[in-house]
Amino acid sequence: MTKPTVVIGSQWGDEGKGKIIDLLAKDYDYIVRFNGGNNAGHTVSHGGKSFGLHLIPSGVLRKKKLLISQGVVLNPKILLEELEALGKAGIKVDLTIDSRTQIVMPYHQLLDAATEAWKGKAAVGSLKLGIGYCYEDKNNHAGVRFEDLIRPEALAGKVRVNLPLAMARVRNVFGQKDTQLSQDEVIKTYTEYGKGLKRHLGDVSKIVGEAIQKGRGVLFEGAHGTFLDSGFGTYPYTTTIPCISGSVFWAVGIPPLPLRIIGTVKAYTTRVGNGPFPTEQPNEIGEAMQQRGGEIGTTSGRKRRCGWLDFVMLRYAQRINGFTEVALTKLDVLDEFGTLKVAVAYRHKKTGRKIFEFPDQINDLPYYEPVYEILPGWKTNLKNIRRFRDLPQKAQSYLKRIEKELEVPIKLISVGPERGQVILR
Ligand code: GDP
Ligand code: IMO
Ligand code: MG
Repeated sequence: MTKPTVVIGSQWGDEGKGKIIDLLAKDYDYIVRFNGGNNAGHTVSHGGKSFGLHLIPSGVLRKKKLLISQGVVLNPKILLEELEALGKAGIKVDLTIDSRTQIVMPYHQLLDAATEAWKGKAAVGSLKLGIGYCYEDKNNHAGVRFEDLIRPEALAGKVRVNLPLAMARVRNVFGQKDTQLSQDEVIKTYTEYGKGLKRHLGDVSKIVGEAIQKGRGVLFEGAHGTFLDSGFGTYPYTTTIPCISGSVFWAVGIPPLPLRIIGTVKAYTTRVGNGPFPTEQPNEIGEAMQQRGGEIGTTSGRKRRCGWLDFVMLRYAQRINGFTEVALTKLDVLDEFGTLKVAVAYRHKKTGRKIFEFPDQINDLPYYEPVYEILPGWKTNLKNIRRFRDLPQKAQSYLKRIEKELEVPIKLISVGPERGQVILR
């Protein structure tokens, strides 16, 4: 029996989870996306073709049963576009979406953009896709669920209460007096989306629960990353929901059970948007990582900020998520560096006191600076290597150093974006 498995981002997202899910999906029957919205962006590359996915689970190229659970917030327009693009590419999609899933509405996007503008310098760097406001409405009795899209009277009832409430904020709080949104248009458009998506409606909690009982292989796909988690990340510069391993049970609606927990770790660190980043290299080193790694946001098109690998962060991610193994990605991006740095601790700038785990108080971060260990680079092109023993000794040492730090094995090493560019151990 394949143990139920969850894939989690260990840093600030974009660790290459999509590639890892695509790779693993062949051994599973069900692939379940359980959190986030279309603020996530996952690139899957196979056979020279690349697919940018935001909502469809990254196992789609493997023709497995795909599920979206109620922990996700769904922009139906984006989902329909993704389904259409996959259809045009000749890819069959067998998808069920939980009827309880919350729907991202146009007023969520208006509020997101208005809030970011209001905050000015304090802006989070949100993608302004309305994700946070959709979760706010979910938690504040004001959400529209997927089930409502197939019941025009239920949809109309909710839109007629919640749309004016949201628009009162846009107009009167944010002062956008001229911004209009027609209730009738929204009801009409979302009823149409409902028609387009009706065949995908189902009870994902039940499907997954039964699949696990029967011993079928279930792979849970986490979006975002540990440091974007709304509780344990670099708050408030985070996304708006939980992204850690334990959240999967709530998000899907299954009882807690032992999981194989795969932490995806990028060989260096990146983040998009605003917020602290201790090992950031806003210089030619970061620029080289950005260029070699093609570090451009799949969703936003923004350049990702880049820096060295950070064990202080990874220890914390390991403690909170309980990784049973690591999938290490983008090792090839470091091929040309003569020396590499890894942060092993943070040192207090005034007292010199060192800490070894990410602080629980984010307000402390500016007072610390990273303490680096210097490791030799391997100066070898790794992209065609497929066996661990064929890796240069210095690359092996880098990986072993990470394993020693996290006390879990690296079972998978990715050396390029293509599905086949991988070393399995
Ligand atoms: P996700 O959000 O965690 O799924 O990651 P993204 O797909 O947003 O970003 C990862 C990017 O790196 C994508 O463009 C992938 O195609 C690419 N990628 C994944 N693994 C590797 C790798 O091992 N090497 C290189 N060079 N690129 C990779
Ligand atoms: P994947 O799944 C990288 C970041 C945004 C922004 C902050 C809040 O591709 O790893 P939001 O739209 O959630 O209000 O934005 O969170 N962010 C991500 N950064 N990868 C992601 O997902 C992200 N999802 C959200 O850039 O800084
Ligand atoms: Mg991404």
